[in-house]
Formats: sequence, C-alpha cells, structure tokens
Amino acid sequence: MKKREEFIYFNDVAYNMLKNYLLHKVDSIKNIFILVDDITFTHCLPILFHHINFLKKSNLIKIKSGEKEKNIYTCVKICKNLEKFKANRKSLILNLGGGVITDIGGFVASIFKRGIRFINIPTTLLGMVDAAIGYKTGVNLDSIKNEIGTFYVPEFLIIDPIFLKTLPKKEIFSGMAEMFKHGLIADKNFWKKMNQIQIDIIKNENEWSQLIHKSILIKQKIVDKDPKEKGLRKILNFGHTIGHALESYFMDINKMIHGIAVIMGMIYESWISYKINGLSISDYKEIRSTLYKLYTIENHKNHISNLEINKLLLIMEHDKKNEKNKIQFSLLKEIGKCSYNCQVSSSLIKESFLT
Ligand SMILES: NC(=O)c1ccc[n+]([C@@H]2O[C@H](COP(=O)([O-])OP(=O)(O)OC[C@H]3O[C@@H](n4cnc5c(N)ncnc54)[C@H](O)[C@@H]3O)[C@@H](O)[C@H]2O)c1
Ligand SMILES: [Zn+2]
Repeated sequence: MKKREEFIYFNDVAYNMLKNYLLHKVDSIKNIFILVDDITFTHCLPILFHHINFLKKSNLIKIKSGEKEKNIYTCVKICKNLEKFKANRKSLILNLGGGVITDIGGFVASIFKRGIRFINIPTTLLGMVDAAIGYKTGVNLDSIKNEIGTFYVPEFLIIDPIFLKTLPKKEIFSGMAEMFKHGLIADKNFWKKMNQIQIDIIKNENEWSQLIHKSILIKQKIVDKDPKEKGLRKILNFGHTIGHALESYFMDINKMIHGIAVIMGMIYESWISYKINGLSISDYKEIRSTLYKLYTIENHKNHISNLEINKLLLIMEHDKKNEKNKIQFSLLKEIGKCSYNCQVSSSLIKESFLT
C-alpha cells in the first residue's frame, strides 16, 4: 500500500501534483472521465477547471445528487457512458463530489474492465475526513447501505477546503460528526480540540486544513494497520451500528443524512458503553452534552417510537458486520479508547433509545 504522506495532497500542492500526473501518466485527455453530481457540477467543477484548464476537454459524466442515486443501476449507466466514450484500461476517473460520488466512482473504477485508475477529490467535509479515505467503495442494495462494494485504492487524494464554502451547514455538521468520532475512538486531545471549535472557522481555511489533516491521519493510521477490517478497523464503526440503522430507516421518511444518524448513534452507543464497557459516567455526560449541542443546533428533531425501535433492530440484525448472528458493536472504554467485537443484547439496545 502507498504511504500516506505521498498519498494525500492539500490545496495548491495538490493541484500541481494532479496536473503533473494527468500530463505525464495519462496518454490522452479523452481518457480522463470526471464524475460529478448536478450540485458539484455547479459549485466544484469550475474550481477544478480554474486550477487545471485543460480538463475542460476531458469527458464529463453527471449524475443526480443524493443517496438515492447510490445504487447498482447508476453504476450501469456510468459504465455505459464509459463504454460510449471508448474508455479503456488506461482510463482514469476523477471523482469530484461527496461520499456518494467517491463511493460510486470508486466502485465503478474497481469493476469496469476489471479495474481502472481513479482519483478522489472529495468536496464535502464528510468526504474529506471519512468517505474518500480508507479504500472502501460501494453502493446500496435497496435500503441496505453499502451492501455491494469492493476494497479499491485510489491513485491519490486531493483535499481543498475551498469546496466547503458552498456546502450547506447541515453537511458541515455531518462531517464534523466523523471528526468527533475520530477523537472519541483514538485521540482525546483531538476530541478536546474539536469541542472548542466554532462553526464559523469555515472562514479560516488554514484552520480547517489542520483539523481535516489531523482527522485524516487518525483514520488513515487505523486503516493502515487493518485495511480489510479484520480487527482494529472496526473501531471506526463506533456510532454506526445504530447510526446506519437510523439512516436506512429514516432515509425515505425524513431524509436523515449520514452524519446526523451517526451523531445519534454515538450518543446511544456511548450510553451502552457506559452500561457494559467501562465508560465512566462523566465521559458519557461530556459526550452526550457535546453531541447534543451539535445535534440540536441543527434542530433535527426526531422521536423514535416503540414500533420504530423494533424495525431498527431488524435492520441491525441484517448488518453485514454481524458475526454468528449477533449484532456487533464497537464501544468506548474511555474518551480516546475503543473496543470492537462487543455483543450487546437487544434489550440493552432498546433501552439505549429511551435514555
Ligand atoms: N466509503 C467509505 O468508507 C464511507 C465512509 C463514510 C461515508 N460513506 C458514504 O458517504 C455518503 C455520504 O457522503 P456525503 O455526506 O458527502 O454525501 P453526498 O455525496 O450526498 O453530499 C451531500 C450533498 O452535498 C452536495 N455537495 C457536495 N459537495 C458540495 C459542495 N462543495 N458545495 C455544495 N454542495 C455540495 C451533494 O451534491 C449532496 O447533495 C454515504 O453514502 C455514506 O455511506 C462512505
Ligand atoms: Zn460514517
């Protein structure tokens, strides 16, 4: 695997690197395919063209924005487009978008003609600190998240916080949820730092760059130790066992986005950590109050009924990370330390929703 220092490039250095790569490692401009959604087409593509003008002559593949598009049918449409524009094994896909685009584009790159190259240019905060990092690609199967997918390594990654300027606030909160998670599972100092930040630091790109960089390093270090998720990498799933169930269930009902689902998941799973994994009551309260602040700023109110709790449990039972028919959790031991492969009874999961 490539070393991470040579793998992720920031700001101007990144565009120079990309330009050189495209000029020297791709035989023809017609072999470059940029994948965008209709929103990144409007907001992000002009920024990319501003830095690398000759990309205007490359092929563009545009899909609709949103999680609903993250399915195998969209992949088939993209493959047909690649075929139409005579893509071959030397072709390269540039994924310019949030996690939906990098997940779909990475997946298509991994299967088209048994694998072509791709580069991720994440344009959401969640994409920068999470979705575009860690070699997982995939699409949903009906409402089952990321059921079809591959592990596939991009050539490299380009991070430019300038894209965050047009990102709606709720999407910023969504990415921040994963940054808080990185602190909670592996780095108490980073958690403390995240607690101090104000949303308006968006005006200060340097500060964003530093926080994003630190967050990426935390995730990358974990992924490097366990790329195929056999053990340690599972700690990145903290907040996600319940979070993914919430996201799957509420996607159609109130369009709950990934980050908000994960914030709620982390609150419930911290409570379970307190009950059975040694997390202290003071750590639990600190986590709850910090995350609730973030959550209520968004005013994303949600009441979960008993009936819904049972449906959520059913979804969790189908989670592909389960083993021996048991729902698997990653739980905190303290802020900055996390265990994995923890089994939790259905009654305790139910109880967590009622706290
Ligand atoms: N592969 C992984 O390891 C991994 C990890 C975490 C999440 N994910 C996946 O990532 C997805 C969520 O990612 P996301 O939150 O980035 O979703 P997204 O790609 O749907 O982006 C959110 C919204 O922001 C818009 N957008 C993107 N960039 C913008 C910009 N610069 N300005 C304005 N609007 C912009 C998009 O068009 C979309 O409407 C989920 O499908 C999740 O499963 C994957
Ligand atoms: Zn996540």
